[in-house]
Amino acid sequence: MAYYYPEPCRTFNEYLLIPNYSSTDCVPSNVSLRTPLTRFRKGEKPAVSLNIPLVSAIMQAVSDDGMAIALAKEGGLSFIYVSQAIEKQAAMVKRVKDYKAGFVMSDSNLRPDQTLADILALKEKTGHSTVAVTDDGTQHGHLIGIVTGRDYRVTRMDAATPIRDFMTPVAKIVFAPEGTSLKEANNVIWDHKLNTLPILSADGRLIALVFRKDYTSNKENSLELTDACKRYMVGAGINTRDYTERVPALVEAGADALCIDSSEGFSEWQKITLGWIRDRYGESVKVGAGNVVDKDGFLFLAGAGADFVKVGIGGGSICITREAKGIGRGQATAVIEVAAAREEYFRKTGIYVPICSDGGIVNENHITMALAMGADFCMLGRYFARFDESPSNKVMVGGSYMKEYWGEGSHRARNWQRYDLGGENMRLSFEEGVDSYVPYAGSLHENIGPAMHKVRATMCNCGAVTIAELQSKARITAVSPMSLTEGGAHDVYLKDNTGIPIK
Ligand code: IMP
Repeated sequence: MAYYYPEPCRTFNEYLLIPNYSSTDCVPSNVSLRTPLTRFRKGEKPAVSLNIPLVSAIMQAVSDDGMAIALAKEGGLSFIYVSQAIEKQAAMVKRVKDYKAGFVMSDSNLRPDQTLADILALKEKTGHSTVAVTDDGTQHGHLIGIVTGRDYRVTRMDAATPIRDFMTPVAKIVFAPEGTSLKEANNVIWDHKLNTLPILSADGRLIALVFRKDYTSNKENSLELTDACKRYMVGAGINTRDYTERVPALVEAGADALCIDSSEGFSEWQKITLGWIRDRYGESVKVGAGNVVDKDGFLFLAGAGADFVKVGIGGGSICITREAKGIGRGQATAVIEVAAAREEYFRKTGIYVPICSDGGIVNENHITMALAMGADFCMLGRYFARFDESPSNKVMVGGSYMKEYWGEGSHRARNWQRYDLGGENMRLSFEEGVDSYVPYAGSLHENIGPAMHKVRATMCNCGAVTIAELQSKARITAVSPMSLTEGGAHDVYLKDNTGIPIK
């Protein structure tokens, strides 16, 4: 006979936190959101920690190198999507590791024999008015000069004028040598009142440009997530099919953490994959596994050596797994049970295995709730897909800007390995995700600060200045349907922004 769980499963929305006593030290500026990403022994430190408890989902519409850089700047980590060719994914990882804040690879380059017409056409295409003039017209050719909007006047000059006749030649340009730090570069910019500083190799090749206008955004963020060499940290998804080729390529590219991307992690395929990684790399390669929604699933993956375990089936905003297959569990219940299993495992073995609540974060308060229930960090897809830095298109729908957001189990992504149950039938035979729009929300940086402030403020209400403290002190109550109604604005007429009451 089937086993029946005594209680129905619940979502984050069905719970509230009850405030605790908070002392005068309990203020948002004292709160640390630092949290472990990888397993560690009692009394030791985890090899990898996050500075904010957020990672971005292993999805085509969410995590590429652009998102990874933006999120690492804020203290979180992206897992670059796996549903692409191994070389492409490894190249994304490498671009994050090679990225140097403030050093821009020139994307507008021409030869000196090209003309003003070429400059105008390039400006139209890239939208950038600074053009590097190199001997061969490439990004890293020998620098011959620079053209900016101040070097020409379209109304007075013949469009056929060669660039060499009006560019600022390299002899008159202030530049800095390869190896210059961002701080030094910014000092040169300020001292010489420059707008652009080219960085040149010893033999005069263009390495990068540093722009004055980027100065504020390039000032160091104290929460930046960097490795021992001060490079941004980045994660990458893997699957249980091509790991023997994909893992070495990602490790070689410099990935700091890997994660098996699967809709269902309580499977022998994951154990085999984890075993292969441990045999080949020992503990040096960090790898998470999942997804599971109960104690047995957690114990299985923790026992198989996962560095962290991802929790959640069917709760993602684009997910239709519960409809398609009738499997899954309310996200809150899943996190609560897995967190209890993790505590028991820690008591028995002395090994702490962090857990990640994946999917179903709709409001920012759900992040705090997931942490309070025992998650060490959260993985979000929809939330990050809304920002400029996500790789998807920004489109106008019904007068509002939207970003496209599609599930890995949709026909659009065709990530069959994520849903694969083995055998030779290597295709997505039915959809478990939808293709959708989410409201465009601007830049990640603008949004994440206020969001993390909310988390910090709520933690203070609970009397906690660390995530571990929140987990031990949180008092959580389930809410009745009527209390849910009471939780939103009610019994008032909301004004629209013109001040005219709307009914
Ligand atoms: P969200 O933050 O609620 O949008 O959920 C994102 C999570 O949904 C991801 O991290 C995945 O675990 C999961 N997911 C991604 N694509 C699909 C899909 O096509 N079907 C079901 N779940 C998906």
